[in-house]
Amino acid sequence: MSPIDLRSDNTAAAEPYVLEALAGVSTGTAASYGDDEVTTRLGRRVSEVFEREAFVFPVVSGTAANALGLSALCPPWGAVVCHEGAHILVNEAMATSMFSGGAAVLGLSGEGSRLTTAVLASFFERTAWGDPHSSQPAVLSLTQATEMGEVYAPSEIASLGELAHSRGVRMHLDGARFANALAALGCTPADLTWRAGVDVLSLGATKNGTMTADAIVTFDPDVAAELRYRLKRAGHVASKGRFQAAQLEAYLRDGHWLASAGRANAALQRLLAGLAQLGFAPVVPARANLAFVAVPDEVSARWAAAGVQFYVISPGVVRFVTSWATTDAEIDEALRRCRR
Ligand SMILES: Cc1ncc(COP(=O)(O)O)c(C=O)c1O
Repeated sequence: MSPIDLRSDNTAAAEPYVLEALAGVSTGTAASYGDDEVTTRLGRRVSEVFEREAFVFPVVSGTAANALGLSALCPPWGAVVCHEGAHILVNEAMATSMFSGGAAVLGLSGEGSRLTTAVLASFFERTAWGDPHSSQPAVLSLTQATEMGEVYAPSEIASLGELAHSRGVRMHLDGARFANALAALGCTPADLTWRAGVDVLSLGATKNGTMTADAIVTFDPDVAAELRYRLKRAGHVASKGRFQAAQLEAYLRDGHWLASAGRANAALQRLLAGLAQLGFAPVVPARANLAFVAVPDEVSARWAAAGVQFYVISPGVVRFVTSWATTDAEIDEALRRCRR
């Protein structure tokens, strides 16, 4: 009985069009360290996709995108404010603190896996602004889609951004699953970022089809100027930059990224519909390609024994993640095994 892998979108292969794009640029010579034509084309493509001048920096992981992007927004004495379950706080070994030279990362409890303006306003009320004994909030970081598969509507990001900016706090989006959020919401990349006040976006791509390429996107030329040096010092300027750029250019071409994310989201919804028939529901409304589902441990142990792979997050809660490669047949077979 072959396993059905619903552990993570990181377990999926790279998409064939990405491999074709890599093969396509693997001829002849090209200028190194991002001075090549493919990287230039990627810059143009990103500006088109976001409908304004944007600056893009390829990196090899979401952690690098988050930590380096945040380091350009936050002074060493500052604080990055996020949800208490945010990946930057819980799962990145405090890379943000290291790259920013010591900034604090402060987690707030929100509603489900999302922050609200009420929570942020109350935190700002409690903050000792201007007190050198306290870390000074400098950046609000939201995850879109969230670590539990929820999404923020553009208007919700805009309200949080307005509140943050009114205190001189800038806004970062951890978009490890940005395409999944776009596909779920059906809005434009611009609506979910700069139009809603986002200064820096971690643009995930590896979970959604590329092989080794995520990116930092910023709309602020000063932040971009600083990132050039920060990335170099962190060892994130690839000498053969065309190979990273080719993956990202292909990702953002011909609607690949949204089609792949749409497939992953649809697979998750198919799974949730089937689980609902069995009496199992997500603990928060999941709109993207992952969900945390309440399942008694003795039941999830039997599902695992039947070859359905997922992570047990805490007693009674399991996480399912689908990817661009998940098929309807796999979901139906997983449900058949769970039902049995
Ligand atoms: C929400 C979120 N942000 C960031 C990351 C970091 O990505 P990476 O593992 O490539 O560093 C992940 C990875 O799972 C994630 O789920």
